[in-house]
Amino acid sequence: MRPSRREQAAVHQPVLPYEVRESLNLRPGLSVVDATVGAGGHSFEILHHIQPGGLLIGIDRDPMMLDLAGQALHVPHPCVALHQSSYVELPDILAERSLTGVDRVLADLGLSSDQLADETRGFSFDADGPLDLRFDTSSGESAAELLATRSADELARILSEYGEEPFSERIASAIVDSRRNSPIATAKELAGLVTSAVLNRGKPSRHPATLVFQALRIAVNEELQHVADFVERVLPQVVVPGGRAAIITFHSLEDRLVKRAFRQKQLWQTVTSKPLTASSVERRQNPRSRSAKLRVAVRT
Ligand SMILES: C[S@@+](CC[C@H](N)C(=O)[O-])C[C@H]1O[C@@H](n2cnc3c(N)ncnc32)[C@H](O)[C@@H]1O
Repeated sequence: MRPSRREQAAVHQPVLPYEVRESLNLRPGLSVVDATVGAGGHSFEILHHIQPGGLLIGIDRDPMMLDLAGQALHVPHPCVALHQSSYVELPDILAERSLTGVDRVLADLGLSSDQLADETRGFSFDADGPLDLRFDTSSGESAAELLATRSADELARILSEYGEEPFSERIASAIVDSRRNSPIATAKELAGLVTSAVLNRGKPSRHPATLVFQALRIAVNEELQHVADFVERVLPQVVVPGGRAAIITFHSLEDRLVKRAFRQKQLWQTVTSKPLTASSVERRQNPRSRSAKLRVAVRT
């Protein structure tokens, strides 16, 4: 059996590292929240620039990622506090520390390569482990439970709305047919089922089940609800006037929410009118960076 991610070094490579560092305009003494600390890639760099005197608060919904962040950031560390939570709980996390605001907030949304590489979570197409797809497996329902209980119409809606999957109805009806015989329990089973359902009608550049996995992950983690709440309610509340927020998104559903929130002129002044994207060198070295968009705004 392969070792779990907890027993291995992190494999995730942070995206847009130079652009994040520059746009956060870091200096010693600042308080910074890394709202999706992951394996601590961005945080490691941030911590270096805010010492001495700075404070880094790292948040992640996934306890496995917090273990990796703790290793990368040498926790216990006097300038670092890690919290297992959703970033929507940030006002409460700050209140516990008697803080009302922070100077910088970074969020690098979505999935880490370390989660993708963990065979026990169901994020990768060839994983034989349970089809879970939750960031925090202690709450909510798994993707396997969702597939077992929704109607064909509801499944098609999820695939279309959260994956923009063009073959949503065909795939939903294949799922309902298949589960009559036996439940869809693993990522590998789902990936195989989708591949047979769409034949080779999808884009040749990606696995036929890419959008289905994205849609299910977004659904079980209620990702868009968390992102919307974070950018609309939480960020304006916690970033001090003159402070900065930097958000990296990986698909248009998330980017639309960030763009709309930063457009509110009474709250934010955007640093660049267009989102920053990866250089051709980074795209070659880190294929995950190809769909990354970084938007940065200053709290007015
Ligand atoms: C792309 S990774 C972050 C990688 C990190 N920037 C690094 O350099 O190592 C995204 C992380 O966000 C976490 N996450 C997703 N939704 C979250 C939420 N609502 N609140 C907190 N963390 C979340 C995931 O568990 C994952 O570890």
